[in-house]
Amino acid sequence: MLNRSVYELAGGEETFKLLVERFYARVPEDPVLRAVYPEEDLAGATERLTLFLIQYWGGPQTYSERRGHPRLRLRHQPFAIGQAERDAWMSHMTAAVESLELAPAVCKALLDYFETASLAMINQPVPD
Ligand code: HEM
Repeated sequence: MLNRSVYELAGGEETFKLLVERFYARVPEDPVLRAVYPEEDLAGATERLTLFLIQYWGGPQTYSERRGHPRLRLRHQPFAIGQAERDAWMSHMTAAVESLELAPAVCKALLDYFETASLAMINQPVPD
């Protein structure tokens, strides 16, 4: 499935806004994630992730116009992300994706991507 068609089939910009709003609504409620995210006000973080996902899936390239190359692993280096943080992130993102009630193939494309991308963001060793 082409990324372009995922963006369109998902419902475009509105869907990604809703997805990230729902995801970030859960972050302050989670003690593991709350400890990682620096901002008291998560509005800026919400906008950055929304624009990134819109760009990634084939929509307007506004993210890179504002932020440059994504370099996501590098941008996550300041934050300690171990397995627990990754699992918390993925569980909230999964709930947010599922809440959208998208077509099954679109839902699967998003979840498969988040699964791989979130594992790649781990930057802390697994504790003994
Ligand atoms: C594995 C668990 C993850 C954790 C704990 C995490 C945590 C964070 C934190 C603390 C920030 C800074 C908030 C801010 O923007 O001010 C951030 C930024 C960001 N994250 Fe993650 N993240 C995770 C996974 C991901 C994944 C899988 C993606 C992409 C699919 C992603 C995309 C982004 C983007 C686009 C930004 C903003 C980058 C920028 O322009 O500065 N993150 N993340």
